[in-house]
Amino acid sequence: MAIYATDRQFHLQTKNTSYIIGIYHQKYPLHLYWGGRFLKEVNLEYFAEEPVADRAAGIHSVVNEDKHVFLTDMSMEFSVLGDGLYRTPTLHAKYADGSTVSDFIYKGYKIYDGKSKPCGLPAVYAEAGDKVQTLELYLEDEARGLKVCLSYSVFEDFDVITRSACYENISDKTVELLSAQSATVDFYAPGYKLLHICGDWCREGSVEYAKLDHTHICIDSKRGSSSAMAQPFAALMEADASETHGKVYAFSFVYSGSFQIEAERDSVGQTRINVGISPFDFCWSLKEKETFQTPEVVLVYSNQGIGKMSRIFHNLYRKRLCRGIYRDKVRPMVINHWDATGVNFAEEQLIRIADFGADIGLELFVMDDGWFGDAREGVRPLGDWFVNKKKFPNGLKNMVDHINKSGMGFGIWFEPEVVSPESHLYQDHPEWCMKAPGKESTQMFYQLLLDFSLPEVQEYIVDTVSNVLDSADIVYVKWDFNRNIVETKNQMQRHKYILGVYRVLDILTEKYPNVLFEGCSSGGGRFDPGMLYYMPQTWTSDNQQAMSRLKIQHGMSMIYPVVSMTAHVGQIDCGVDKYNNQLNTAAMVAMGANFGFEMDLSRLSKAELEQVRKYVQIYRSIRDTVQFGDFYRLSSPFEEENTAWEYVSENQVVLFTFQKSSQVNGEEWRILFQGLDETAVYESEGKEYDGEVLMKLGYRVLLGAFVNESHCFIFNRVK
Ligand code: DGJ
Repeated sequence: MAIYATDRQFHLQTKNTSYIIGIYHQKYPLHLYWGGRFLKEVNLEYFAEEPVADRAAGIHSVVNEDKHVFLTDMSMEFSVLGDGLYRTPTLHAKYADGSTVSDFIYKGYKIYDGKSKPCGLPAVYAEAGDKVQTLELYLEDEARGLKVCLSYSVFEDFDVITRSACYENISDKTVELLSAQSATVDFYAPGYKLLHICGDWCREGSVEYAKLDHTHICIDSKRGSSSAMAQPFAALMEADASETHGKVYAFSFVYSGSFQIEAERDSVGQTRINVGISPFDFCWSLKEKETFQTPEVVLVYSNQGIGKMSRIFHNLYRKRLCRGIYRDKVRPMVINHWDATGVNFAEEQLIRIADFGADIGLELFVMDDGWFGDAREGVRPLGDWFVNKKKFPNGLKNMVDHINKSGMGFGIWFEPEVVSPESHLYQDHPEWCMKAPGKESTQMFYQLLLDFSLPEVQEYIVDTVSNVLDSADIVYVKWDFNRNIVETKNQMQRHKYILGVYRVLDILTEKYPNVLFEGCSSGGGRFDPGMLYYMPQTWTSDNQQAMSRLKIQHGMSMIYPVVSMTAHVGQIDCGVDKYNNQLNTAAMVAMGANFGFEMDLSRLSKAELEQVRKYVQIYRSIRDTVQFGDFYRLSSPFEEENTAWEYVSENQVVLFTFQKSSQVNGEEWRILFQGLDETAVYESEGKEYDGEVLMKLGYRVLLGAFVNESHCFIFNRVK
């Protein structure tokens, strides 16, 4: 059983963790414990009632009669403005009379098997046979007529708990939600640090740590998009926790719009984490009888550092967030022409690139930006999602049939959420644009934003995208989004926009179950769990320079499974330069994820073509392990000179090594493997290796004079 309730406590148990909630004074849901699993039933009530320090009663609110226990020392699961705590609350509501003070009391609970889907939002799901249970705690502000249901779903075998909150207005007046967070957790976390992932365009996935002194740290996006600047993720870690050691408490938000993760350490040593939709320019009018469902947060605890944390996320997101037939299928190796041609291409050029791709063994040709609308010099009529007749005089099907004959599938690019002022769509429907009264809408990348909260916009996109997908045998869609929200007509529109995007994606992914959808937003500008629910892979970054990519993929792997990150060998100067083989390094980095090419292969020399053909063969032999095995970051490009990535499946181990600088007469680089079966024996290049030896003694990687030297070592299990 994943959840059991005692008198006034709820014990949530996964395979390795316990999470305990108490109800204090029939009012406050307290956070009593989260960490390693308790071996037997424990009663933590006394713990909550222990006096902590002499406190000044004028400054801190007292909660028991003998006046020794203070609310300030309590760890909360839900908090409101007016509870006397002064930490940022879970809920900040404004009532019809202008008051912003709430007073909730606990009303009861329900436990049930499985998990219900939050309406209109992406979420982790349970499948038949999964050990999953849900606890709902009900609280109510009787005077105000506002209810909240706090949901906790426990995925026992996945070692994960998800949380969300749902508000219901039972009064006859509108309530304004100024901030409605999905989850609040208060910790005793002295000296902890906060891991977060930041960056920018072409610099996604930067790993940073912030020391949590008596500070307030806010990781957020106000862009209407999760963004390349901040991942909707943070992990609170013991000061000395590392890749393999120490306690880590991680939060990943399943949402693609503006978000915030706040960490706040107060004067008495309580550390609060709040996760939810960003309150920046947010105010949700909750009318009579309406509910507001917050997106969900995935909570992961690891007692073995961030490596284990990541593997828990990978396993869950691969199997119970991503959906569709591609969830468990190996992903095709792609040839995309974008880096080689941009939007200015002719059909013959694409066919030549595709033919070379087919010849070296690639499996999917992706036609990127530039194929749509009326052909006019210098115009890119985004929004006109029909095939450009000048570029494709014989129609799209002709091109697709040719690609199919060569043995490859055909994929196509769309950017459905935007519109160009030159498009027919804009001329016909200027009112479909996102607009603030009294201000001209801002163009970004020569685009305006469609207001996806409008049902007519959603319908137009479903119809036009469907028309294209129905016109030929199209097996893949790249869904791009190259701008952010600037202006909105009101404070609800940012969230409504993303709900509209989710609705359209829901319809299209259901209508085209055999199409592989890939998310993109100028690279990883909207690489988040919300998008992975609809599209099982994301274009990780527009930056394809190998050593930058190494960091980007390494950073994104903190949260996202390797198979969800697409990585291509980009347009590089591929002169087979023996001293510094960029083609090899680019291929090794890309093979460390969901592999493909983005170049004009016809421009490669014969020797280079043989080289890339070899990479395709190698990747085919390791693809199962790389895409679906367990991933171990053995050393980090953020911290060390050399990087090593290891992938482990039942019968194979793959190791990639990357040497950043020339290391003549360097120190020995001995790599200690992780996660192997100690009794197994592996074969690599004619030699046998014991799993135990690889883990205890390690494997020696030759270091040399070459800058950016990289290798792929394959170990196949023989015993
Ligand atoms: C940004 C994407 O990241 C690129 O891969 C490419 O699809 C362009 N957009 C096309 O406009």
